[in-house]
Amino acid sequence: MTEPFVALVTGAGSGIGRATTLRFVRAGARVLAVDLNEAGLTETSRLAGESEAVALLVKDVTADDAPSAAVAAALAQFGRLDWLVNNAGIGNAKAADQTSDAEWDRYVDINLRALFRFSREALPHLAPGRGAIVNLASVFGLFGHPRVAPYAATKAAVVGLTHQMAADYGPKGIRVNAVAPGVIETALTRERIDTDARFQALNIDPIPFPRLGRPEDVANAIYFLCSEEAAYISGHVLAIDGGWSVTNYSRRGDAL
Ligand SMILES: NC(=O)c1ccc[n+]([C@@H]2O[C@H](COP(=O)([O-])OP(=O)(O)OC[C@H]3O[C@@H](n4cnc5c(N)ncnc54)[C@H](O)[C@@H]3O)[C@@H](O)[C@H]2O)c1
Repeated sequence: MTEPFVALVTGAGSGIGRATTLRFVRAGARVLAVDLNEAGLTETSRLAGESEAVALLVKDVTADDAPSAAVAAALAQFGRLDWLVNNAGIGNAKAADQTSDAEWDRYVDINLRALFRFSREALPHLAPGRGAIVNLASVFGLFGHPRVAPYAATKAAVVGLTHQMAADYGPKGIRVNAVAPGVIETALTRERIDTDARFQALNIDPIPFPRLGRPEDVANAIYFLCSEEAAYISGHVLAIDGGWSVTNYSRRGDAL
């Protein structure tokens, strides 16, 4: 029998990271779930039925020792590591002229630098032929979008690093892909979806599909990209946005 896959998921205490953890457990995988939000992690574990397939690590991904502590915890708990999902991230942001040095650094530290450092730590442990990394990019990293300068810059860099690592680790049989979600209903977007007319006009009105994205939509894609079903897919960036990024559509326009 094939040994169960073992995954490390960052930002697993909410939204997409939580849904990915639950999707992996449903597929029989083991998960080391990392987040700085302890209550969020506990809730993820509860939703997984307090299963022994989920181990928790309360950690800020930007801490110096976060990557080494997380990889060590996965190996200690489950004896191997196959998949890394670099999901922890912060969103929103502002235009370049409204962004302070401190804000810029915060986006880079969480969305990009931690992703690089977790990848570097995990890569030597990922088994050839089984190993896979999935990075969380965003459609805002693929196309110009107003007033999200540091966020978009980090997500575009995630796309570049995904392509680059696919080249370096493909020869070792390790696949590196990214997902680029559009608007997904999570803690990150909830307030803007409900109250921000500008966000609704720019991000919801142009979605051809008649609903918003759900964390499970992204989790299913992440699971697919990790699984053996995607055995020959590497360096790919999969938009999960109901068609937003490749259409010129308007819900209001369609109703006229
Ligand atoms: N929701 C969307 O519409 C959307 C769209 C595109 C991309 N994304 C990306 O998906 C990823 C997950 O977003 P989400 O919508 O699930 O957000 P979320 O806010 O629901 O969850 C993010 C999780 O990351 C954790 N986190 C944040 N900073 C951390 C840190 N320094 N250390 C450890 N944990 C940290 C948070 O505590 C939270 O549990 C992010 O990278 C985000 O940029 C989301």
